[in-house]
Amino acid sequence: MAREFARVGVVGLGTMGAGIVEVFARGGIEVVAVEVDEASATHGRETLEASTQRAVDRSKMAADDREALLGRVRVTTNLDDLADVDLVVEAVPERLELKAEVFAALSKVCGPDTIFASNTSSLSITELSVRTERPHQVVGMHFFNPAPVQALVEVVRTVVTDPEVLADVTDLAVRLGKSPVVCGDRAGFIANNLLFTYLNQAVGMFESHYAGREDLDAAMRYGCGYPMGPLALMDLIGLDTAYEILDTMYRQSRNQRHAPAPILKQMITAGLLGRKSGRGFYTYAAPGSPEVVADSLTPPPPGQEGGDQRTVQRVGVVGTGTMATGIAEVFAKSGYDVVVRARTEAKGEGVVAGIRKSLEKAVVKGKLSESARDETLARVRPTTTFDDLADCDLVVEAVAEDLEVKQAVFGALDDVVKAGAILATTTSSLPVVECAAATQRPDDVIGMHFFNPASVMKLVEIVSPITTAPDVTSTVRAVTAKIGKHPVLCGDRAGFIVNALLFPYLNDATAMLEANYATADDIDSAMKNGCGLPMGPFALLDVVGLDVSLAIERSLYMEFRVPGFAPAPLLEHLVTAGRLGRKTGQGFRDYQKK
Ligand SMILES: NC(=O)c1ccc[n+]([C@@H]2O[C@H](COP(=O)([O-])OP(=O)(O)OC[C@H]3O[C@@H](n4cnc5c(N)ncnc54)[C@H](O)[C@@H]3O)[C@@H](O)[C@H]2O)c1
Repeated sequence: MAREFARVGVVGLGTMGAGIVEVFARGGIEVVAVEVDEASATHGRETLEASTQRAVDRSKMAADDREALLGRVRVTTNLDDLADVDLVVEAVPERLELKAEVFAALSKVCGPDTIFASNTSSLSITELSVRTERPHQVVGMHFFNPAPVQALVEVVRTVVTDPEVLADVTDLAVRLGKSPVVCGDRAGFIANNLLFTYLNQAVGMFESHYAGREDLDAAMRYGCGYPMGPLALMDLIGLDTAYEILDTMYRQSRNQRHAPAPILKQMITAGLLGRKSGRGFYTYAAPGSPEVVADSLTPPPPGQEGGDQRTVQRVGVVGTGTMATGIAEVFAKSGYDVVVRARTEAKGEGVVAGIRKSLEKAVVKGKLSESARDETLARVRPTTTFDDLADCDLVVEAVAEDLEVKQAVFGALDDVVKAGAILATTTSSLPVVECAAATQRPDDVIGMHFFNPASVMKLVEIVSPITTAPDVTSTVRAVTAKIGKHPVLCGDRAGFIVNALLFPYLNDATAMLEANYATADDIDSAMKNGCGLPMGPFALLDVVGLDVSLAIERSLYMEFRVPGFAPAPLLEHLVTAGRLGRKTGQGFRDYQKK
């Protein structure tokens, strides 16, 4: 029989505590809330009243229900009032000594069966539990802000937590309409541990001038569908808060990836704390304002960067696969004449057929007129010779992901294409400079990394190795905007921006699963519900393909030699066993055979 939880206590009625009280009271549970003094108690009560009034104003709660809810909450300043509660959640400030004192006092007040839960974001539940006389009855109950809205609750077990206590608390969270996940006692738990490691890496990229803040943020929003880019999110969280969390994680793990990027400390010391101070990575209209205003780091819109630009009218595409076909379609749709170089006539016709099929779909959906379809198709000319690319202003190579094959293509282009033309590769993992080195004109060579399907995905990573001429980069940035894509600039390093940030995170999640820290379902749920990501890491790995993911992780590891980038053995084993994800029907999960 699951425990009843007729009455619970909440200690600390600040940002989180007030929200947690509301969650319990909404669920029909009597709540005794304890604050440190009358002023804080009044403030906490007012927070609760205002939040529930907003729910009534938005027709999300009936006025009667609000009255009943408030009637279930008693706010006091006396810890003794918690004598007969079944569960206490503490949400006092994030200081171990303070929390330990609260638990020590509660140990004397509460009955022997009362469960103690901490809402700490980063302190050790184990350390807190041993400061009570009932370690087996202590868990973490980590709510997310704002607690009444966010579905995720991380229920944290220690090595001595009674399994029944864990089950009862998890069950309670479900009854309160939350999506609880269970995990062990590690700094950052699931969501913050994975999130902050990724955020810290993004800050490091910014710090080393690998990519600009707008480009880092746009890359993750357009490339991965994240609700916010990493630096905008850091500003929202607060750089001081992020620093504390990373620092705690580092002290526990000694993992270099958790060591706060040095620039964080400098920004905090300079008072650049993020939105709350009006300046962090971005500048805001006022302290606390979400409105970003332009500052000295704001880049000009694509095409308006001034300086020299080359003229691009005729575009060549080399290759006949998925990417080549999509890229040719995108350019032709935007009014460029496109010459597609195929190895055989049949393959060339295949590209035209592929584009026709895609355009036809758009016509059926009413998104494209028949005349626009015909005009677009008329702009695409397949050929089997490199000579026909001679007068192209820009050539995009999209052949097999094999360096020798690509270098042969660049050698051939170098022989025939007119001087001053831009030569681009759409490689997703090879060094662009290797393509540049295969020509006598390395300054004209650049990377244009499109995402699949090219006709749909908005992001293009523009990769400039040290050899690329500045006017080539600015021309390609402007052309990318002209074809309706979002250009981001970055250096020529493995993974560019998106893969370099995404795959180490996926690898961290795999290592977490491998360590039996939490289940795949719970890790996926934490990242979806806690961080608003479109998919959890294992759902995504299964879609991408585990073999493809392993290859990307290996290339990142070989480039950076960061120990944390070494692919988790679990991924290697799944690939060896032929479990490659959705495409083979089995990966981290099993799928129904089609
Ligand atoms: N803010 C977040 O996004 C977030 C999310 C999840 C968890 N947390 C964690 O929740 C806890 C609370 O954070 P917060 O943001 O609500 O802080 P807060 O400063 O808004 O609230 C803390 C409250 O505790 C009260 N308090 C202090 N000492 C007390 C005592 N001895 N007895 C009773 N009340 C006392 C304070 O008066 C204050 O109202 C922290 O451990 C934090 O790490 C915060």
